[in-house]
Amino acid sequence: MTVDVVRDMSRVMDALGPEQNQQLDYWAGQYQKLLNTVTSAGGPAGRQIKNWLNGVWLGHPLHPALTDAAIGAWSTGFILDVVGATREADAAMTVGVLAAVPTALSGSADFADISEEPRRIALIHAVLNATGLVLMVGSLAARRGDKRGLGIGLSTLGLGLTGVSAWLGGELVYRLGTQVSRIAFEPHVEEFQVVCPEAELPEGKLVAKTVSVEGGEFSIALLKKGHNVQAVSNACPHWGGPLAEGKLLEDDTVVECPWHGSQFNLVDGRVCQGPAAEPTNVFETRIREGKVEVRRR
Ligand code: FES
Repeated sequence: MTVDVVRDMSRVMDALGPEQNQQLDYWAGQYQKLLNTVTSAGGPAGRQIKNWLNGVWLGHPLHPALTDAAIGAWSTGFILDVVGATREADAAMTVGVLAAVPTALSGSADFADISEEPRRIALIHAVLNATGLVLMVGSLAARRGDKRGLGIGLSTLGLGLTGVSAWLGGELVYRLGTQVSRIAFEPHVEEFQVVCPEAELPEGKLVAKTVSVEGGEFSIALLKKGHNVQAVSNACPHWGGPLAEGKLLEDDTVVECPWHGSQFNLVDGRVCQGPAAEPTNVFETRIREGKVEVRRR
């Protein structure tokens, strides 16, 4: 039964025609514009808040971690309603509503930097979550006004919508790879590998080179300054943007991704600005017999 429902939901998403997709794209674009306007209006503080909501301080996206708090509290409230523990159920529902606010904000921060199919699905996900939250707030009001039956009905419906939305969240991550690290499967280069002759690296300019190792190849971005060469993964952890085509900042110690503006320190790989939340891979380099060699630091 559950499997059938899930299959049907997959069919509904696949069945969206060009017109519906266009509509979703339009509204998703409007929402992104609004989010970006609010972030820009906040100046450096706005940028810092967005970094925090993206999960830069945590080292991975904050939104998935926060969803557990809201869904967990509402599920607990549902069970407590079933067993008739009214006060405890109301408390759990209240905790869920409080947790849903930062959850929605962190989801919006991530939404600001996605596109195409993930953006369309994320919009439906956001609308369902917002509706679920409104129903939960209505449920709390009904419970306070001694309309317990109505309150339980609203929260049950809200939890159901949130469950459907959580399924879409799974689609976003596990099927479409939203917020999945683009460097997670890079081979671990333990021994020094030759990348290219030193003469191929222009002074003070980022270039992409391929590293071939047992088990595949991947691309790194190299920056040569004098005899010193910095090397990081070329794929931006956020969505794979080519860092070698990015902008050098802060005396060439930071690179900005050309796709959504994540910034990474070239020396230690840490994130200086989101939406990427995860540091990038950094490589130790050396020059031997005129050739540049790298290994993972
Ligand atoms: S791909 Fe999104 S910031 Fe790099």
